[in-house]
Amino acid sequence: MIPRDFIDTLLARTDIVDVIDRRVPLRKAGQNYQACCPFHQEKTPSFTVSPTKQFYHCFGCGAHGSAIGFLMEHEGLGFVEAVEALAADAGLAVPQEAGAPGRPRAGADLYELMGQAARYYREQLKASPRAIAYLQKRGLTGEIAARYGLGYAPPGYESLASAFADYKRPELAAVGLVIDDERGRRDRFRDRIMFPIRDGKGRIVGFGGRVLDQGEPKYLNSPETPLFSKGSEIYGLFEARAAIRASNRVLVTEGYMDTVALAQFGIDYAVATLGTATTPVHARVLLRQAERVYYCFDGDNAGRKAAWRALENTLEALTDGKEAFFLFLPEGEDPDTYVRARGAAAFEAFMAGEAVPLSAYLVRQLAGEGAPQTAEARARVLKQAQPLLAKLGAPILARLMRQELGLRLGLSEREGERLLGRAPAAPRRAAPARAQGLYRQLARLLALEPAWAAQIDPCQVVEGEPYAGPLKELLAWLRGQPGKTPAQLLEAARGVSVESELQALLGEAMEWGEGFDAAEEFAGARRRLFDLWRKRRIEALSAQAVLSEAEGRELLELLRSAPT
Ligand code: UTP
Ligand code: MN
Repeated sequence: MIPRDFIDTLLARTDIVDVIDRRVPLRKAGQNYQACCPFHQEKTPSFTVSPTKQFYHCFGCGAHGSAIGFLMEHEGLGFVEAVEALAADAGLAVPQEAGAPGRPRAGADLYELMGQAARYYREQLKASPRAIAYLQKRGLTGEIAARYGLGYAPPGYESLASAFADYKRPELAAVGLVIDDERGRRDRFRDRIMFPIRDGKGRIVGFGGRVLDQGEPKYLNSPETPLFSKGSEIYGLFEARAAIRASNRVLVTEGYMDTVALAQFGIDYAVATLGTATTPVHARVLLRQAERVYYCFDGDNAGRKAAWRALENTLEALTDGKEAFFLFLPEGEDPDTYVRARGAAAFEAFMAGEAVPLSAYLVRQLAGEGAPQTAEARARVLKQAQPLLAKLGAPILARLMRQELGLRLGLSEREGERLLGRAPAAPRRAAPARAQGLYRQLARLLALEPAWAAQIDPCQVVEGEPYAGPLKELLAWLRGQPGKTPAQLLEAARGVSVESELQALLGEAMEWGEGFDAAEEFAGARRRLFDLWRKRRIEALSAQAVLSEAEGRELLELLRSAPT
């Protein structure tokens, strides 16, 4: 865990204009800087960077964030990696907060143990003609085996005792290399080809081990450990990163062998999930790496099931400008057998010709090939589609899919949008600022100048008025964030409930032009806040049949106080 105040310090020491300009050359336009958006295709620049607010916003695709967010999106880095990169530029050392929530803190020595084990397994591979023969039989060269760090765990029960001076040390069990039970301690992996699993930094966090011949289980993975959580790691991502960047796509397979075999044939942008369904964490990480994510599945029932899970878990992570595809192999084949039988060109041609875009896959799965015949069938499709479309993180795509699905069901565009959920707001450029009136405008101003929150009395926010709830929530949260700049605020909001609202507000505030005086606007909005509250209070008191003495006095006071 990185301490919060370090993030604030880092953002205060970083200039987002500088960070972005080094990667996407910017042009000065008034107070801000502009460029063609690096996150979607465009001809006229709508990507805007604000030096005062220290964040970026694209009016075209809605991308936005702080300097940290930019590095995560643009370079495909994780949060910690992005922080480390900025800190290095700013000449700051990243402090660590011990005992923070989340994953138990994994000491550097645990990684070292894994590295030591991997080195041992690699040496054992060199010493085992049988293991080498197996890999050769599967078509792998020494070069690929070396690139993926493949190894071999010998058959003995205590082989690792020759890799570690102290075979009894408890850390070996903590990282899952050995098993302790009533019979004592023994190696977890025996007589298996070893696939090291690396995290985003290339550190080995787990292993997958395959039997050489027959045997159960075919693949054995490391258990969940302080270093390893299989729902969030992706096999081969570290090895494939450069190729993924270069080709701007990533191919997700179901197996270690598939990933390695594809790399052997030059398709080096493949990765694998670790014998689990694609999780939302996987989807988010994958979509950060490249614009196009191809999920590849076996053409059987299990494959189709897995594909649907992947779809459900990808919807939220998908943003406009990113694409997910589904690729189903012929029954009985996996990427490994396919590429070995037909070669890389055939595989890539298959990808190009057969990959189904997520939108088409979703519509096809829900509505079938033709249009559903009965009203009942159409109602069922609508009902199933609603929650899925609501999850979709890409507003433009969501809208197009509503239209498409509506058409398939024989609905008009209006009906389709109405039945499939609210149509997203018109493009921001066209319908700025006033949409939800006073309270939302106040919220925008507070997002820009959090310190002003202290000047607002939350009791004067009238329940039931548009945007009253979100404004109250924002006010309560801002109280704990005094003195922050918008970018610092954005980072403080990472992962908490106000996050997406705050992003939207800041994006809207980006539209305020040169002459806009935020302080003056705030003063006016504060007055209108009070006036509205006064008006509603007078209405409420006047509507009461009986007034207590105190209420009577209050009403008189209110009536006497002229609107300010
Ligand atoms: P498959 O059974 O399809 O194996 O499992 P595969 O990838 O084709 O492997 P080869 O070609 O026989 O060597 C696909 C993935 O499911 C997980 C592994 O991640 C494997 O790569 N798996 C499978 C397990 O974790 N345990 C098992 O026992 C089997
Ligand atoms: Mn296989």
